[in-house]
Amino acid sequence: PVLVVDFGAQYAQLIARRVREARVYSEIVPHSMPVAEMLAKNPAAIILSGGPSSVYEPGAPVLDAGLFDSEVPVFGICYGFQAMAQALGGTVAHTGSREYGRTLLTAQGGSLLRDLPAGLPVWMSHGDSVAVAPAGFMVTASTPGAPVAAFEDLAARRAGVQFHPEVAHTEQGQEMLKRFLYDIAGIEPTWTPGNIIEDQVAAIREQVGDKQVLCALSGGVDSAVAAALVHKAIGDQLTCVFVDHGLLRAGEAEQVEKDYVAATGIRLKVVDAAEQFLGHLAGVTDPEQKRKIIGREFIRTFEAAARELDAERHIEFLVQGTLYPDVVESGGGTGTANIKSHHNVGGLPDDLQFALIEPLRTLFKDEVRALGAALGLPEAMVQRHPFPGPGLAIRIIGAVDRERLDILRQADLIAREELTAAGLDRDVWQFPVVLLADVRSVGVQGDGRTYGHPVVLRPVSSEDAMTADWSRLPYDLIAKISNRITNEVREINRVVLDVTSKPPGTIEWE
Ligand code: XMP
Repeated sequence: PVLVVDFGAQYAQLIARRVREARVYSEIVPHSMPVAEMLAKNPAAIILSGGPSSVYEPGAPVLDAGLFDSEVPVFGICYGFQAMAQALGGTVAHTGSREYGRTLLTAQGGSLLRDLPAGLPVWMSHGDSVAVAPAGFMVTASTPGAPVAAFEDLAARRAGVQFHPEVAHTEQGQEMLKRFLYDIAGIEPTWTPGNIIEDQVAAIREQVGDKQVLCALSGGVDSAVAAALVHKAIGDQLTCVFVDHGLLRAGEAEQVEKDYVAATGIRLKVVDAAEQFLGHLAGVTDPEQKRKIIGREFIRTFEAAARELDAERHIEFLVQGTLYPDVVESGGGTGTANIKSHHNVGGLPDDLQFALIEPLRTLFKDEVRALGAALGLPEAMVQRHPFPGPGLAIRIIGAVDRERLDILRQADLIAREELTAAGLDRDVWQFPVVLLADVRSVGVQGDGRTYGHPVVLRPVSSEDAMTADWSRLPYDLIAKISNRITNEVREINRVVLDVTSKPPGTIEWE
């Protein structure tokens, strides 16, 4: 792998993703990992990420210069660039001044920046600067605030940049990253969906042998792709369970029951538990209570189905659609506050005693989608926007019942149809529609007064759902959605647009 050494800022995951986009497998490791351990992973290259703004900052992580005793190609970015310069005997000037944001780079040849336009926009965020490059390095660029903004030592296969090539503001950033990976480090771009599938299929066969495997489908992309992958590996040894809790959107249960089964041939047990879930949710308005009830009932239902199946064929493995960001974040060790109790299959009781199969553990979301497409899953399923486990229950502000679900389903379907018709599905991360079920407002329709409910449109753009911004959808599209909803959904007489970013708002309303 290419190791991305995390110096504690937000950038490591982004760098790792960019490396994967260049079709090279990458892994994130903490800066506290001893160099010997990094080298034991047999890295094709090591990328030192951004971090604090200065190597002189109190408590700034120290780079073990022992790294440079090995011949592994190294690329330093921002803080990693300074740390590299210092470890190799260059000088970092403790300026105390800052350069932040977009700036223009003056390139002076070299391999990394070869033939790129002069006056290249790059994204900077640093305090100190490298004043003198280490011996053997050629300085290849400067900016107004950084006399040494890039350097390289091609013989040693080492290079570094003061700016951030991984962010979109650095227009040629991905190109530079590729040049480091391909030209300087000499790595072949072999991380393709086909190869990933091949590797995973072999690994799953090895892990499972001739045992039986169970997978809970949620209707979402991750579980669908995980199951398809496992099915490709072990076929009939896999059984899937789909708990229909009655809180899905229009067409979603059918998509799982028909399209998915048709595309994969997977054996699927559908449990229609709508009655049970809605019964327990009756009259409940508190968001956390809704989430807890749904989580609890989900486990009960799934457990019952699992025991039933286990009686037929003894099940030893459970498939989970855990993704790489979850793995990185749970290994990060920073105790994050419980903002909302997220619900997934993770909370299964211990006495079921399954071993886990997590075939997506090393993958980012976009890679999972590419894999799903390569496995022949329907486009609509693979490109589906994220949808919360508790479903529409947390998009009805107020108590949940069949009538309200039905109203919200109609409005939600219109919003989705129009977004798709406008060709903007890929431009938004998610497009929740929220029913303010306990709010009424006065309207007029034809000659009559109406007294109906509002719905909120909540289109957001995001890279990872940790932060988000409201999507600037075209007004004409918003207008069309609004017109259709108020015309076609009888109980709704008002449509409003949520223009809150996250933070301070969350994506969902509950
Ligand atoms: P928030 O509302 O916290 O949502 O900004 C962040 C992302 O998580 C999704 N979400 C959930 N997903 N179970 C899930 O599987 C949940 O309980 C849950 N709650 C929120 C939300 O749709 C968004 O993508």
